[in-house]
Amino acid sequence: MKALCPGSFDPVTLGHLDIIERTARMFDTVVVGVGANTSKNAIFTPQERLEMVQESVAEWPNVQVQLLSGLLVDFAAAEGVDVVVKGLRFAADFDYELQMSQMNHQLNPDVETILLPTAAKWGFISSTLVREIAILDGDISSFVTPMVARRTRERVAERRAD
Ligand code: PNS
Repeated sequence: MKALCPGSFDPVTLGHLDIIERTARMFDTVVVGVGANTSKNAIFTPQERLEMVQESVAEWPNVQVQLLSGLLVDFAAAEGVDVVVKGLRFAADFDYELQMSQMNHQLNPDVETILLPTAAKWGFISSTLVREIAILDGDISSFVTPMVARRTRERVAERRAD
């Protein structure tokens, strides 16, 4: 079966990678869908986010990475995805993910969603906090891979120089 792990990944965190790795153990193929609709708070372009995810999942042979534009249900249908898998950290995630999964199921009843509890040690990580800590010169090295930490620090420095 083919699973889809969608997200913004701005940037990809160790929490995301944990969910992707565990999904890759349960399904034959995993497509990581990098949301191409950039929010105004994004620090990386969709292409940059895709590259960082691609480099991070390179060692898992059944994981591929693609840009996800348009509706998630349309992407899932076009790619022959059986199940959407999303990580669940706390109650606020549940409220948000429940609504999205029900809406997606309404839009296309073939699209099922599975909510996978995040590993406890990554439960407090979010890309939003990683960006904020990096912008305020904090240490993000325990939340992202070394490559992502370096690229995030570089991006923050570039923005400061502008
Ligand atoms: O959890 P995230 O990182 O905010 O996820 C973003 C993503 C890409 C999963 C979400 O924005 C999405 O599904 N975008 C596709 C557009 C869409 O289908 N919207 C309606 C969802 S009910």
